[in-house]
Amino acid sequence: MAATPVGARHTKLVGVISPHPDVRADAYPVPIFLDVDTGIDDSLALAYLFSSPEAQIIGIACTAGNVPTDRVVANNLAWLDLWDAIGIDVARGADGPLVTGLNTAEDTHGDFGVGYARLPRSLRQISRFTAAQAWVHAARRQPGRLVGLVTGPLTNLALAIRLEPRLPKLLNRLIIMGGAFDHPGNTTPTAEWNISVDPEAAKEVFDAYGAADGATLPVICPLDITETMVMTPQHLQRIALRAGSKPIEFLSPTDPIDRRSEASIPVLRHLTDALRFYFEFHDKQGIGYVAQVHDAFAAAITLHPGMATYRPATVDVELTGTLTRGSTVADRRGFWGRPPNAYIATTSEPDAFFNHLIERIGESLRRRSEYAR
Ligand code: BDR
Ligand code: CA
Repeated sequence: MAATPVGARHTKLVGVISPHPDVRADAYPVPIFLDVDTGIDDSLALAYLFSSPEAQIIGIACTAGNVPTDRVVANNLAWLDLWDAIGIDVARGADGPLVTGLNTAEDTHGDFGVGYARLPRSLRQISRFTAAQAWVHAARRQPGRLVGLVTGPLTNLALAIRLEPRLPKLLNRLIIMGGAFDHPGNTTPTAEWNISVDPEAAKEVFDAYGAADGATLPVICPLDITETMVMTPQHLQRIALRAGSKPIEFLSPTDPIDRRSEASIPVLRHLTDALRFYFEFHDKQGIGYVAQVHDAFAAAITLHPGMATYRPATVDVELTGTLTRGSTVADRRGFWGRPPNAYIATTSEPDAFFNHLIERIGESLRRRSEYAR
């Protein structure tokens, strides 16, 4: 089948798009607005983006999810300090979902959202805008150029679309980590975390894209694919080797419970302590001493769409099911008679992703520590 550009409208459902056309080299750097619930894998996504010259981070919205909003704000500000990032506004988002109360996931991400890491408190000021206002402001400033990446619940984006219904058309592209299709959930038997926290918000966003004729359809990066992005202690060690960190550490499930990283590079030290917790969490779940790094993969396909294949789909969210609330449903056979409102990322190559991630973060940390000497 011929490749079809993301965003092309289909009147009927078609199959997998492969290969996906990459962002043209001359389109770099990509101006990105992030919406995150930081979060261990969100932290790795930030690390990847801060390390990638193709990314120009315009602003960061903080959404309640893995941890409450204030903790997400504190984590994002702290990572900006650790990465010496300047000129990036951090906007505080809503305290919880549109309709229901907030569930958080300290069991998965630790009491502070970053596993065992204890990030230094930042003195940076947050934006005078709310997260929803920041979305709108950023999109209006460069209509047709801004790329959105959401790695948390869709609360702020839904609120932003209420403020500015043209938002889907103002964005160049949108990538959402969330949902599960033909795949078990990680929060309920059928629902994925980001959608499950605020299903009403997710539905508002997908519905808005369904109604926004001419908007580039969002890319959904679901569990089906992100659960194949399994980071191991070897991957983390390769980052440390590439970065020139000392001592070279290797995390193991047999480590003493209070072992903490002594890596000479502060960012790497904190990432290591965060990932140790994530490895342990996955181990307790029976997955092994590894970590599924959902958000980092979503960040990678934001910069390099060619790293995955996609299929168009008409997507909706279950709000009322007694067992299935928060599940994402894709109508593959046109039962609903509605055109596609999203692209779903379907396949990728984990080794290629990890080689890229390791090269990016490792090289960036190596350059920074050489410069600091
Ligand atoms: C998503 O849930 C969160 O816990 C992770 O940060 C990721 O965004 C995966 O379901
Ligand atoms: Ca997340």
